Amino acid sequence: MSVKQLQVDILNLKNQNDVTILAHYYQPIEIQEIADYVGDSLGLSRTAKEEVNTEYIIFAGVNFMAETASILNQDKHVLIPNPESCCPMAAYLTPEKVIKFKKEYPGLPVVMYVNSTAAVKAESDICCTSANAVKIVERISREYNVDSVLFGPDANLADYTEQISGIKCLKMPENGHCYVHSQITIEDIKIVKKKYPNAKLIVHPECIRGVRELSDYVGSTTRMYNYVRDNSSTDNEFIIGTEVGLLERLTQDFPGKNFYLAKDKLICYNMKKHNLELIKYILENLDDKAFEVKVPPEIARRALKPIEKMLD
Ligand code: 13P
Ligand code: SF4
Repeated sequence: MSVKQLQVDILNLKNQNDVTILAHYYQPIEIQEIADYVGDSLGLSRTAKEEVNTEYIIFAGVNFMAETASILNQDKHVLIPNPESCCPMAAYLTPEKVIKFKKEYPGLPVVMYVNSTAAVKAESDICCTSANAVKIVERISREYNVDSVLFGPDANLADYTEQISGIKCLKMPENGHCYVHSQITIEDIKIVKKKYPNAKLIVHPECIRGVRELSDYVGSTTRMYNYVRDNSSTDNEFIIGTEVGLLERLTQDFPGKNFYLAKDKLICYNMKKHNLELIKYILENLDDKAFEVKVPPEIARRALKPIEKMLD
């Protein structure tokens, strides 16, 4: 069946049922096109909390994002098209490891990037996303009256947040990273900048420091999108240092502008495990429990606090 036909079928099924489809910017473009809302982690969490009032949410993103939506909507059914879509960065931390860090640094607040499991969030004081990490660290350090925080699991986001806020972000663990963003090297940037000398370079904070320092702008996926939107009358070319899904979205929304990837194959294979066939199947089988994301109630209760503290 063609992509167009699948999209038509999905939209018809969605209209016949009480369903909202949320999609991250890193989803294949044909999924972004049928979503009710496309956003970054922060935008999707906010939408899940404040705007969704349907009985079912289909979440096209990695499973920590769907878990967050489920924790925020315990009276709704959150369904993930491919339950194997997970973020490898989340595996860098277990609840046991967080408890060990807390014992080693008593009195320091635990700031947890949302790219973590619900059980790890349950051991944390506040969550953050790449869009609000600086603000969250500044605020929690004031609340606890400290100049250091424990920060996990992304060491590059910790480094970026520390650089901007001036507050020490102790990494939990030292080497947590995203395989998509951290593969971009300084050498890659030199090559791509030489090829497109007039392009603005915009990158995600999960990139390494040397790459961030060569860029014109650092921000979450929505902020990168907004940077292009707000500068598109002056700038024509942009080098994108994040997952290819954002480049596809930008290419569609800003025809006439040129977008180049910072290097080939910036693909999050985990995000790409969803497809239109799976979404159609779920819409035809909304009560198939195999796709439902459920967090054990006690973990959901404890993980809700740091998530809500972030959103507040
Ligand atoms: P955003 O916070 O920009 O949505 O990033 C999420 C993510 O997984 C980045 O790799
Ligand atoms: Fe995880 Fe990186 Fe994929 Fe984001 S891009 S979901 S951090 S592996």
